Amino acid sequence: MQEQLDTARQILLDNDRGGFTVPTARLYPYQWNWDSAFTALGFATFDRNRAWTEIETLFDAQWPNGMVPHIVFRSNDPDYFPGPTVWQTGSQPPSSGHSQPPVAASVVCDLLESGDETDAARARELFPKLLAYHSWFHNHRDPDHTGLVAIMHPWESGRDNCPDWDHAMSRIEVPTDLGDYKRRDLDHVDADQRPSREQYDRFLTIIKFARENNWDSEKIYREGPFLVADPGVQFALLRADRDLLRISEALENWDASSQLRTWIMRSEVGSQALWNEQTGAYCARDLRNDHLSDALTNASMLAFYADVGEQKQKQRMIDATRRILSNVQYGFPSWDPAHPDFESKRYWRGPVWAIMNYMIAKGLEEHNEILMAERIRNDTRELISKAGHYEYFDPCTGEGLGGDVFTWTAAIQLVFESARQGRKI
Ligand code: DGY
Repeated sequence: MQEQLDTARQILLDNDRGGFTVPTARLYPYQWNWDSAFTALGFATFDRNRAWTEIETLFDAQWPNGMVPHIVFRSNDPDYFPGPTVWQTGSQPPSSGHSQPPVAASVVCDLLESGDETDAARARELFPKLLAYHSWFHNHRDPDHTGLVAIMHPWESGRDNCPDWDHAMSRIEVPTDLGDYKRRDLDHVDADQRPSREQYDRFLTIIKFARENNWDSEKIYREGPFLVADPGVQFALLRADRDLLRISEALENWDASSQLRTWIMRSEVGSQALWNEQTGAYCARDLRNDHLSDALTNASMLAFYADVGEQKQKQRMIDATRRILSNVQYGFPSWDPAHPDFESKRYWRGPVWAIMNYMIAKGLEEHNEILMAERIRNDTRELISKAGHYEYFDPCTGEGLGGDVFTWTAAIQLVFESARQGRKI
C-alpha cells in the first residue's frame, strides 16, 4: 500500500508544472478547473501550501465577470485540440470560454476546517473570488433566477459525452463552414474510449456560435445551440454554496451569508425540475424543450452530496443504486448498465470515475448509508490498486481506461487513505 501511495504522490509532483498541475501529460497539457480543485485535496494530504497554490493559480484566470474557465492555457501545446486559437476568448491568461462543475469552494471549506490561522488567511483572501464565481453561475447561467443553472456546452458539465446530452446534441446542425480539424485526443487514447466524431463536430459548433457572439453569456443563454440543466453542475454548485456559507460564517461575513442563503433556497426549489418520476432519479433537462433524460447517472447521485430531495425521492434512488451496484463489478457507473445506451469503456457513457465516487460516497455517508458509501470507496481503492491510476475504469471488468498516471485519480486515492487513517484530509 505504501508503495501505491508513494506513486500517487509522485504523480502529483510529476504533473506539477509550477503552481498548477496538468491532469496528465500530453492528453491534457493545461490546467483544468475541477481537476485542480480535487488535486488540491490530494496535495493537502502532504503539502498544504501547495494545495492552496493550486486553487489560487486557478483563480488567477478568473474573468472580470466572475467566471472561472474550465481550461487555462498557459502555453499553446500542439498535443491538445481545441487550443486557445479555436476558443478566441481574448482572456488573460488565455482560457476556454465556459466553466466546469464548481467544486473549488467545497475544497476550500475542507482546507479551512482542517487547518489553522494560515489556512484561514488564505481562505479570507480567496473568499471574494469564490463568491464572484458563484454569483456568475447564479446570474449568467440562470439569468431568470429559476433556481436551475444551465450549461451551454457538454464540456461545462465535465461529463463530455454522457447520453444525458444526446437529445440536445441531436438537434444541433453542424454548419458546412465548420472547417476541417484534427483531433489530438485520438493520438493518445483508443477511439472506443473517447467521444465520437459526430459529437466533436457538435462540440465545435457550439464553440463557433459563442466565438462569433464574443462569448456574450446573455446571447448564449437565450439563443445558443445547446442549453441543458445538468444534475452534476446543479448539485455541485448547491453543495459548494452550502460550503461557501460555512466559510462565510467562519469569516463572519453576514452580507455574503444572506446572499448565499437566498441562492441555496432558490436552488433547492429549482432542483425539483430535474426529477424524472418515471426513472425515479434526478436527470438532465434540455432547457430548449424541457425534455428529460431517462437514466440514473453518477451525477444524479450527487443529490445526496447536495442534500436535495424528499425522503421518498432519496429512497427511490437508494433502491436504484442497489440494483445498479448488483449489476456491475465496480461502482459507480456513469450511466445505468441496464439502459441500452450504456457503453462500459466509452468515457462518460458507463465508466467509473474516482472523483465522482468521492462525492457520491461523501453524500451517502452524510445520509447514513454507511455500507453503500464504503462499497463505493472500496471499489475505487480496488480499481486503482489493480489497474493503476487511470482516468476512468470499466465497471464490468475493472480495466483502466483513458489517460494513465492521472492526477485526480491519484489525489482521490491519497484522500481516501488519509481518511482511513482518521485524518480530516
Ligand atoms: C477533453 O478535451 O476531452 C476535455 O474533457 C474537454 O474539457
